[in-house]
Amino acid sequence: MSLMRTMILATAALGLTPAGAQAPAKLKVGLMLPYTGTYAALGHAIENGFRLYVAEQGGKLGGREIEYVKVDDESDPSKATDNVNKLVKRDNVDVIVGSVHSGVAMAMARVAKDSGTLLIVPNAGADAVTGAMCAPNIFRSSFSNWQPGYAMGEVLARKGVKNAVTITWKYAAGDEMVRGFKEAFEKGGGKVTKELNLPFPNVEFQALLTEIAAARPEAVFSFFAGGGAVKFVKDYAAAGLKKNIPLYGTGFLTDGTLAAQGDAAEGVQTTLHYADGLNTPRDNAFRLAYAKRYKLQPDVYAVQGYDAAQILGSGLAAVKGDVSKKAEFIAAAQKARIDSPRGAFSLSPAHNPVQDIYLRQVGARENKVIGVASKALTDPARGCKM
Ligand code: BEZ
Repeated sequence: MSLMRTMILATAALGLTPAGAQAPAKLKVGLMLPYTGTYAALGHAIENGFRLYVAEQGGKLGGREIEYVKVDDESDPSKATDNVNKLVKRDNVDVIVGSVHSGVAMAMARVAKDSGTLLIVPNAGADAVTGAMCAPNIFRSSFSNWQPGYAMGEVLARKGVKNAVTITWKYAAGDEMVRGFKEAFEKGGGKVTKELNLPFPNVEFQALLTEIAAARPEAVFSFFAGGGAVKFVKDYAAAGLKKNIPLYGTGFLTDGTLAAQGDAAEGVQTTLHYADGLNTPRDNAFRLAYAKRYKLQPDVYAVQGYDAAQILGSGLAAVKGDVSKKAEFIAAAQKARIDSPRGAFSLSPAHNPVQDIYLRQVGARENKVIGVASKALTDPARGCKM
């Protein structure tokens, strides 16, 4: 082998550019996330997590530096199609990463499916994204709404709870988490006696809390997140309900919110694919790196952003940064085992994480893991034809 060729191979293996050769163009990542509104903190945590993983890889994935193009989607589904089209058609991004809100993510999935652009969903749980709307170029690093809801239904049925009232925002995330909860809870012998809703992102909970007090169920199951979750948990406690009717929910109810919720959240049990106190070497290293870089503790959203970058990195490594080799990219990404801080996971054939769902309880301002509610829970991917 010639000396020149040996040098080129060696520098490529190290992720370096040989002298005289042009560095490959930057990979354009479109971050479509909420940076304002009730989910703003979630969007920021996802971006932080994503950037942390890229930084740990020396600023490159698949040998390419990353250029970010950012859009604040405001968690507004009515603006989502225009926003994602701007990223695809005007900015020509190589991959889209987004979003948090299920309604926004469904619009993004439609555009990704039609245009063939790679999409990695770092939060929104809309079941359809890896269900009826599934596609080879769409991946999710987070969860389906069904997963944490179903796990809490199993937990309450196992506890012997016989009846529960549900309360959530009226949109895909709330509807689907309640549906998952009800499926497992009623299969286990429980009965959902009332389903209460209010429009997203409304936080006027008083009338509904009065209905809960009158109904006197054994338990309440809820989904709220971000700023809305802070207010709901505080209002529930202030209404005097907490000591008589235990509050449960998917983990979004108390993740990234505990400092603001204070004592009102103490004792609340939730189900989620991440928790505090996992105490694994992988999670400890992640938490230390995140805290050092951002002077903040990570939450589930940061983990999902970090893992979105890992999924992208696994596909890009296989094609050496050449995203035009889509079939090879997809084949590698879908069989990757993601070394996540939550615990390693693989993707289902519909590209949704197959993962343990933890049972957590709030204590001393942490969502402490107290067990595994559902082991390697696989979303049923209803309607997915791929
Ligand atoms: C959703 O809309 O899918 C969602 C938003 C925040 C937390 C969890 C799910």
